[in-house]
Amino acid sequence: TDATGEKVVGLTAEAGTSSFLPGRRTTTWGFDGAYLGPTIVANRGDRLRVNVKNDLAEATTVHWHGMHLPAAMDGGPHQVVDPGETWSPHWRIDQPAATLWYHPHLHGETERHVMMGMAGMVILRDQQEAALNLPRTYGVDDIPVIVQDKRFDAQGQFTDSTRGFIGAIGDTLLVNGTVGPYLDVTTDVVRLRLLNASPARVYDFGFSDGRTFDMIASDGGLLAKPAPLRGIRLSPGERAEVLVRLTPGEKVSLRSTKPDLGLDGVTSGMNAGNDTLDVLQLRAGATLRPLGAMPTVLAPLERWSLGAASVTRTFDLSGHSINEQKMDMGRIDETVEVGTLEQWVVTNSMHAPHSFHVHDVQFQIANIGGSPPPPELAGWKDTVYLPPQTEFRLLMRFTDYTSRTVPYMYHCHLLTHEDAGMMGQFVVV
Ligand code: C2O
Ligand code: CU
Ligand code: CU
Repeated sequence: TDATGEKVVGLTAEAGTSSFLPGRRTTTWGFDGAYLGPTIVANRGDRLRVNVKNDLAEATTVHWHGMHLPAAMDGGPHQVVDPGETWSPHWRIDQPAATLWYHPHLHGETERHVMMGMAGMVILRDQQEAALNLPRTYGVDDIPVIVQDKRFDAQGQFTDSTRGFIGAIGDTLLVNGTVGPYLDVTTDVVRLRLLNASPARVYDFGFSDGRTFDMIASDGGLLAKPAPLRGIRLSPGERAEVLVRLTPGEKVSLRSTKPDLGLDGVTSGMNAGNDTLDVLQLRAGATLRPLGAMPTVLAPLERWSLGAASVTRTFDLSGHSINEQKMDMGRIDETVEVGTLEQWVVTNSMHAPHSFHVHDVQFQIANIGGSPPPPELAGWKDTVYLPPQTEFRLLMRFTDYTSRTVPYMYHCHLLTHEDAGMMGQFVVV
């Protein structure tokens, strides 16, 4: 924190090498290091400034996924940071405690930049969350779990040679940049902040013994109350915070089993839908520090009703287009009036998977094909998986920041689709 009370963070994009496989060095990119980047922790009310320096040999951007902030600070395709330059976005954190993340968003290059290793987590805290008895000691009982799938060529370099409709599919999982990871657990409950930072793969996270866990937060923050689950499907860009209980001395693995992609078996198999993969082994100590009873009520959540929305927009995802148009950086697709409750009707009319992500806002899923969302999708979301032939009705309200000239993005978060133009631009006025 500097003299003006602003919290200042430095983030340097750089190239380097990392060791994932025995006896091999892999060329990677990262922030303040060779792979991934530091976790940024901030409190609601903080004024944050990030000095993003680009020491790469090519241009990139840094987007704050899930963050409510002015469009000029958003780090989308218009906020290019050229090699050798520093870009210093700044804004006031004003949204609930949540797990967000940052990653490049250079138009047409997002998949490649993310796959090289450019990503990091953001943890937002607030007083409401701080008042709850939840695990909150970073790296001890509150654990970032950044999940990515990779494929290595014979020289040990990243390759995207195996691709489905969804994009590059890897056969080796990394958690926080580590192959074959484990966590020594010292408390009877751990909080895992799951982030799917893969370009394409959809996971269904659960545990190797099928145990129940409690999901406590979705993309935008705490659920109204814990949702007991055995599995949580996360498509690229989505997050979930989960609490898992352990008994002394046991070993159990976070595992991804076959996600329900809403595809037939063959198509699902071509799109990484038939894989079971161990993600992270939890190794409980011989004695575990008890954290006490976890809360049964988490956050007040006022559910909006569709009837309260005064504007309806429709988005049809098909081919690599939205409403039959490809991304054009010079075209504004939608103009939103600040403060209006909007209904966005989003449909994947193809037989291939897609997803939908909106910048600047956390939305509510009002219904999915006419039915209310399941508990894990009933909280604040900024990204949602769209199974084929399904209509989602989303409710959202853009507040505070307006600009007639600088747009925000909405897009499919399967990064190869985004790069191919499955993205549109909106301004808030
Ligand atoms: Cu995670 Cu527009 O991006
Ligand atoms: Cu985003
Ligand atoms: Cu898509």
